[in-house]
This record gives sequence, structure tokens and C-alpha cells, in this order.
Amino acid sequence: MKLLEPFSKYGLSLKNRVVMSAMTRNFADADHNPTDLMRAYYERRAANDVGLILTEGTIIHPNGDGYPNVPYIYTDEQVAEWKKITNAMHIHGAKIFCQLWHCGRISHPDYLGGKLPVSSSAVRPEGNAPHMQVPMVTPRALEHDEVPEIVDMFRDATKKALLAEFDGVEIHGGHGYIIDQFFDSRINQRADEYGGSVENRCRFGLEVTKAVLDVAGPERTALRISPSREMGGVLYEWPDMDTMLAYLIPQLDKLGLRILDISCARSDTLDIYHSTSGKIVRMARPLWPHIIMAGASLPPEEAEKEITDGFVDLVTYGRFILANPDFVKKITTGEPLIPYDPDMRKMLY
Ligand SMILES: Cc1cc2nc3c(=O)[nH]c(=O)nc-3n(C[C@H](O)[C@H](O)[C@H](O)COP(=O)(O)O)c2cc1C
Repeated sequence: MKLLEPFSKYGLSLKNRVVMSAMTRNFADADHNPTDLMRAYYERRAANDVGLILTEGTIIHPNGDGYPNVPYIYTDEQVAEWKKITNAMHIHGAKIFCQLWHCGRISHPDYLGGKLPVSSSAVRPEGNAPHMQVPMVTPRALEHDEVPEIVDMFRDATKKALLAEFDGVEIHGGHGYIIDQFFDSRINQRADEYGGSVENRCRFGLEVTKAVLDVAGPERTALRISPSREMGGVLYEWPDMDTMLAYLIPQLDKLGLRILDISCARSDTLDIYHSTSGKIVRMARPLWPHIIMAGASLPPEEAEKEITDGFVDLVTYGRFILANPDFVKKITTGEPLIPYDPDMRKMLY
């Protein structure tokens, strides 16, 4: 099975094509330091032969926070604690990328020392603030001069991730967080060169990608996007998905990006691949001969078909690996998988 065979392209060498998706678990300590519990959780997956592990979303700067007990990669102490985790992965021959995360408007002043969240524009998200019973607030639109400061935060976090001996980083460009807040025409109402046209709305994401690539190089830089995603049973799509992808993907190629992670986001249902990311993979593939990772709880035989049909190179698994640390062994032997249950989020094992 190709899914279980070693993979090597553009300097990224993995023992198989199984990738653990980024999953926020909220088990960092009150100062946002990674913990021993987190190390044990990742180590169990590494010891069980997951080819590439993507960490949970990891906050690049305190101003980009939006959730309780999520890890940061910002202080020296956080770098040192992450290094313990990366070293444990390497003992098992696994690779680990740090997912770089700035929440933008998906936050609340309580997570930001009383400051307002920032975004492309002052457009309030619907619903309650993350893990709170109060409505989201209207964010503050970034001043023109502040946009490059956020790009710098991604650059600095990449340097810190490499100091922590991560094998690479994944830029979180999806799921309605800061980069997506620039891509999405319903949110981005800017009148400067970061808003309006397709080119302008892609500019921030491209600047971040370039900054990260400059530090980490193509074999250590992935970008996650989610032009079609489902969250809580609701489908979110960029209104101008076709024209956006037709511009964005060749531009990413020109910058030298080689690893694209196309996400379906997160849902309570398992069967959303073909209506979300699988659809985008089919739009992206003719424009992108490089590495594509995608997935959404795909049964192994379906994952295999996506690989052999040439749509994806690596298959991402979130909930199956959360519920089954020995996922790779189970799909190798055909043992039944333990079904994912949202209650499993309450513990790390
Ligand atoms: C508990 C949980 C936390 C998640 N946190 C993140 C995250 O921090 N960053 C991210 O990009 N996606 C996150 N996701 C989405 C997953 O990476 C993945 O795209 C999604 O679960 C669909 O894949 P699956 O069907 O294989 O689980 C999360 C999903 C779950 C279930």
C-alpha cells in the first residue's frame, strides 16, 4: 500500500504518507508552555510510526491568542519545552512540524490582556468567543503599517521553531483565522493594497509564506488553506474560490512553496472530504505539481485511491489518530479502529 510506504520529495523524507493533522488540545500550562503530558501524547503517535506530525495550532505572539491553554512558541522557555518534545519525536524517527497560528478576530479581549483582537477589517464574527459564553467582539482593523508586523511575527516564530529543532513549520492559513481573514472577501473590506482585488487579498498570505520560506526553506514550510470547509455542520467557501485559486496557487509556486495542506476544517461528521477539501484538491492539482496533503477521516482504501489517482501525496488524519495512537499499526494489520468520540478531547493519551 502506497499510504504505508516511505515518501521522499523536495528534501522531505518520511517513513510513510500518514500525517497527523493539527489538533488543538488545550493542555499547555497557564503560561502557554508545552507540558510533559503533551510530550507523552505526541510521543505515543511517533512511537507508533506516524510519518509526519503536525502540532496543534501554536500561537506565534501573545497578540495572536484566542484560546485557553494553547501552547505558544514565543518565549525562550516555550522554545526549550518544545525542544523536549521534538527530541522525543526524533528518537522514534518521526518528523514534527509546528503549526503557526495567529487567531486574528477569532479571539476576545480576555485572551489579549484587554486589547481588541485585530483583523483585516472591523467585521464581527458570529457566535460566541472561543470557550466563552459571551459574543465575539468587533475586531480592530489593522493599520496599514501594522500588517508587516504580523508578517514579522510569523518570521520570528519560524526562527524559534527551528531553534526548538522542529523539522519544519505549517502556516495556518485556513479556518477563518488571520490569513483567511485577508483571503475572504466577506471579511476583508480594506481599501489599501491588502484588500479589494484577488491579488490584494492574497498579498498578506503570500508575504507570510515568503517570510517563512526565507527562514525555513521549501522542505520545511507547509501552508494550510481551507477555501471550502465545514465547521459545526455549516459549509464556508470563499465566494470567489475559482479566481482566488487560479491566482494564489501559481503565486505560491513562484515563491518556492512546495507543500500545500488543503483542509476541510473540522466537523462533527466524518464524511465531508468530497464536499470540501477533496473538491479543492481537484481544482488545485492541475496548477500544483508539488506536494499536496489532504484528508478527512478517509478510510485507508479511499486514501490509497486518492494517492494512486494522483490527487494527494500525503494523507492527513486527525480524529482517527486522536482516538487510535496506534493508527498506523491498525491500518497495517486491518484491526478495527476505535471510533472518535468528542469526549476524548477532555484527556490526552
Ligand atoms: C479536537 C480538534 C482540534 C483541532 N484543532 C486544529 C488546529 O489547531 N489547527 C488546524 O489546522 N486544524 C485543527 N483541527 C482540524 C483537523 O486538523 C482536521 O482538519 C479535521 O479534524 C478533519 O480531519 P479528520 O476527519 O481526519 O479529523 C482540529 C480538529 C479536531 C478534531
